[in-house]
Amino acid sequence: MEVDPVRRICIVGVSGKLGTYMTRHALARGYEVVGVCREKSVPKLADLADRITIIPGQTDDPDVIRRAVAGCDGVLTVLVPWGVKDYASGTARAVLDHAEPDARLVFSCGWHITKDGQDRYKRRFLALVKIMTLVARWARLADIDDQVRATRLIFASDRRWTVVRGSDLEEGESQGLPVWSRHVGDPVLASNRTRRTDFALFMVAALDGDSLVHEAPAIVGRTTASALAHAEVRTV
Ligand SMILES: NC(=O)c1ccc[n+]([C@@H]2O[C@H](COP(=O)([O-])OP(=O)(O)OC[C@H]3O[C@@H](n4cnc5c(N)ncnc54)[C@H](OP(=O)(O)O)[C@@H]3O)[C@@H](O)[C@H]2O)c1
Repeated sequence: MEVDPVRRICIVGVSGKLGTYMTRHALARGYEVVGVCREKSVPKLADLADRITIIPGQTDDPDVIRRAVAGCDGVLTVLVPWGVKDYASGTARAVLDHAEPDARLVFSCGWHITKDGQDRYKRRFLALVKIMTLVARWARLADIDDQVRATRLIFASDRRWTVVRGSDLEEGESQGLPVWSRHVGDPVLASNRTRRTDFALFMVAALDGDSLVHEAPAIVGRTTASALAHAEVRTV
């Protein structure tokens, strides 16, 4: 089936670091951008305000999302588990419920999310996730388990979704489109490092075509040692 090209997109969580990078990449590709962020974060977008449409509001508010995604061919969602009121799963549900029927839906998360249980994690990584989950919930700052629930909703959906799983992130100039693999533990991912701008580049590139539909790519920077050591690397 021929898929219409993406022209207008919505970025949910547009005012954060990842959201701002995605906006710049999307504008460079010529997309029309609608962005959702909390009312108090609108001033963070002053540099971009004349080039995008901003819809202020909570990203888990179905009415806000319904207005923002109307007419969009693609939706890029920064999935974050802030607070203890199911913010991530509320956001995912609102996007899944209200995006246009054929829209490409691309969500961000970390390596701790697993689609099929086949990821092979280091014990240290699992211990760190467990500690962060307990501490964040105790402080009522974030509910990392809710990001897990959010991605379960996405994986169970028949929408045209992709869940991009980011490695540890760093700032810096772009090194180009990251490479990806289906499972954490695959040798190509061993360096566990991606520039944040390139995570954003991958999210935007994932909108194109169908190759990543119903995939949960785990990504790593294309110039990292592990990516360079493996010739079988994949890009979008
Ligand atoms: N940080 C990492 O090392 C890392 C590693 C792998 C994957 N990831 C994934 O990358 C994505 C971006 O994460 P990031 O850490 O790089 O941060 P980020 O891009 O700055 O995004 C943080 C988002 O959370 C929102 N936010 C912050 N505090 C909030 C609150 N109290 N209530 C509601 N929303 C709030 C921000 O909105 P405002 O602008 O309104 O504050 C922003 O949209 C996430 O999906 C994350 O799982 C991150």
